[in-house]
Amino acid sequence: MPSKLAIYPGSFDPVTNGHIDIIVRGLKIFDRIVVGILNNPAKNALFSVEERKEMLRASLKGFTSVEIDTFDGLLVDYALQRGAQAILRGMRAVSDFEYEFQMALMNRRLNREIQTVFLMTGLRWIFTSSSIIKEAARFGGNINGMVPKIVQHKLKQKFTPASHLP
Ligand code: PNS
Repeated sequence: MPSKLAIYPGSFDPVTNGHIDIIVRGLKIFDRIVVGILNNPAKNALFSVEERKEMLRASLKGFTSVEIDTFDGLLVDYALQRGAQAILRGMRAVSDFEYEFQMALMNRRLNREIQTVFLMTGLRWIFTSSSIIKEAARFGGNINGMVPKIVQHKLKQKFTPASHLP
């Protein structure tokens, strides 16, 4: 039987435990998952693509069926190029629905061979987003347990003035 591959695309600026949860659960459906970091210089990201890649790699160490990659251009073209059958996305609250629905329909219009598969976010992660975590971390808020340890460390580094570092 041919192995099933999904692309899990996103900005991952930075990766959260909500993302990790989707990947781990996605592996129960797909044989392999390629995490595709969108390389979009127009978007004002906190972390460089290389930093995001490094954090994802460290957070998913030991998951041999997961690959971390970057892409630019259209997601469906990238999925086709990688030989994926599906795009995997997590869905949180109702607020995600409209954007996700629009994107899934557009992607389907662009390539009908690639299916979008949604997994409902685990209840624990329903309010977790990269943006809200960055906001909390920027002002010294406690983000313990919301992101992998390496991300917590990197956020602390980003938001600690150089003069305060040991
Ligand atoms: O984590 P995000 O920012 O919600 O991820 C959005 C992402 C990367 C999945 C989306 O912006 C994307 O796929 N961009 C590539 C361009 C594209 O194919 N857009 C959708 C159809 S127009």
